[in-house]
Amino acid sequence: MPGAARWSDDFVRQVREKADIVAVISDAVALRRAGRSWIGLCPFHEEKTPSFTVSAERGMFHCFGCQAGGDVISFVMRREGLEFRDAVQALAERFGVAVPQAPRSPAEERAAAQRELWLRCCEVAAAHFQRGLRADPKARAYVDKRGLTAASVETWRIGYAPPGWEGLAAALRAAGIAPAVGEQVGLLSRRQGGDGYFDVFRDRLMFPIADERGRIIAFGGRTLGEDPRKYLNSHESPLFSKRKVWFGLHLARQAMRGGGPAIVVEGYLDAIMAHQHGFTSAVASLGTALSAEQAGAIVRYAEDIVVAYDADAAGAAATWRGLGLLQGGAARVRVLDMPPGHDPDEWLREAGAAAFAAALDNARPLPEYLVGSVAARSDLSHVGGRLAAAREVAPLLARTSDPAERAAYVDWAARRLLLDDPAVLAEQVRRHLTEKGEGYRNRSGWHPNGVSTAGRRADQAPPRAPSKVVRAQEAILALLGHQLGLNAAAAEEVSPADFDPGEFRDLAEALWSLRADAPQPVDAGRPPLELLLDSPLQEPARGLAARLLMAEEWDEYPGQLLADCVNTLRVFRLQERLDAVRASQRRLEAAGEQVPGAMMREHERLQREIADLKGRASGREAAGGRV
Ligand code: UTP
Ligand code: MN
Repeated sequence: MPGAARWSDDFVRQVREKADIVAVISDAVALRRAGRSWIGLCPFHEEKTPSFTVSAERGMFHCFGCQAGGDVISFVMRREGLEFRDAVQALAERFGVAVPQAPRSPAEERAAAQRELWLRCCEVAAAHFQRGLRADPKARAYVDKRGLTAASVETWRIGYAPPGWEGLAAALRAAGIAPAVGEQVGLLSRRQGGDGYFDVFRDRLMFPIADERGRIIAFGGRTLGEDPRKYLNSHESPLFSKRKVWFGLHLARQAMRGGGPAIVVEGYLDAIMAHQHGFTSAVASLGTALSAEQAGAIVRYAEDIVVAYDADAAGAAATWRGLGLLQGGAARVRVLDMPPGHDPDEWLREAGAAAFAAALDNARPLPEYLVGSVAARSDLSHVGGRLAAAREVAPLLARTSDPAERAAYVDWAARRLLLDDPAVLAEQVRRHLTEKGEGYRNRSGWHPNGVSTAGRRADQAPPRAPSKVVRAQEAILALLGHQLGLNAAAAEEVSPADFDPGEFRDLAEALWSLRADAPQPVDAGRPPLELLLDSPLQEPARGLAARLLMAEEWDEYPGQLLADCVNTLRVFRLQERLDAVRASQRRLEAAGEQVPGAMMREHERLQREIADLKGRASGREAAGGRV
């Protein structure tokens, strides 16, 4: 597949060296000189006094306000919303570094050519449908009736598929595209029995569905005629997978990067109408059941997500599961309250942009909304009803990653559901936490905008472990990242798996593999973190590496700090394991079952190890250890 090959480390290093970070950042931020650095107002958070610094010497930026940081590649990724590969390519082109042509196998060549053909087919079809709309007064009248402006029609490339059976087939033929290609992307269908093909979309208003880069990969068509099926979408194809696509993301990602909330709606017209009313960060999910892929794709762009589904959809269980996926990965998911029986399209046209904006501001956090709606439709007058309601809200509350916030919601929800004892709900929630383990924590690749969790603002920070353990992990990465050979013995006692999933673990894995590759640091003059920045290390681990490099002079810390932090991390992990074993024991005992001997021995072993490690640490303190 084109674009899938990995850039060589050498090429990435060349790009980093050639790219002028001050020039790149100056496009977005007014920088002024301050000593050896440049400073300005941070583009990644609101501020009035500059805490955003750029070091041309080190090729890094860092914000002391929001802890955003990284090199020129991270900056372009965040600012332009690009993938690592595309950011490197854009910089290479701008600063005249020759982009290596990845050698392709004949099979890859064929696959790439095939893909180009599918894309061209969709493009020809889009133009055909656009012509169809211009030529058809009835379809144009419908567009007017729906309140779509000419600008919207043009921006979204809205079209019309005429009622005939062979209009598109003929247009494709005229463009030299074989009908089989049209069939593969779901635009043509083969005639039963006989030969030949016919148009799938007939007498429908056509909405092109684009990928993140704006290339058309599928269509949705709304019936204007007899066909009772209101919407028809292109079938799944090598180009189009409904699970992965957001309608309108190519237009919305710019606005999301500006820091506004992502607005998630259900339908084509909802998204288009939202944009038309100035809410340009709206995307449609093409149905209510979100997939994990969709969730992942959107939290890359926005850390605040407002869901604007109509009340029917918002009541359905499938909706909650989908929204739970967002909650598990994003910093904040809120639900907008819409008048019953309305979707955003209707409501915007009826009540206008100001009412919608107010509702956006008032959107309630997802857990609060869920508990409210479960309470409203449950019979809380008897114990059974209250317990059923508790069971229903528990999985979603468990997805709130910040423990303090979670505890607050549990308390509040217990009162709202009239539970006599909040511990009942707490226990339900805890069960979902331990059953799913780290699944409910912030996972790698899910950090909005690549901001490291450890470095987020306090009001949105979901620390995944107690802050002491977070600091210990940071310190271990920083210390090893400045000096590869540092106190290797202490580092042997932990492994990447001990780090929180996400950027900590990703960076640990990268560092550990560097250690494995080079027990004797090859490039002793350069800190390992800097070497890693020359590799295709992905966000958010990349931002973390840069931040650790910039923020402090870690190389001056004594080796003892490393041993202490390793100790803290190990105790924490063992304690987690011990808690899990205890919980299983309690469950077995409550069920009147025998606790297996192996489990009891594990319990004792963990207790012994923890006591042993704690003893070591206090021994050092008593002996007048470090700092
Ligand atoms: P709705 O049935 O709510 O329609 O489907 P709508 O968007 O309000 O359309 P109008 O206002 O009646 O014209 C919501 C969305 O779900 C997807 C479409 O994206 C649609 O816009 N959908 C619905 C399908 O993809 N296929 C279907 O069969 C139905
Ligand atoms: Mn509608």
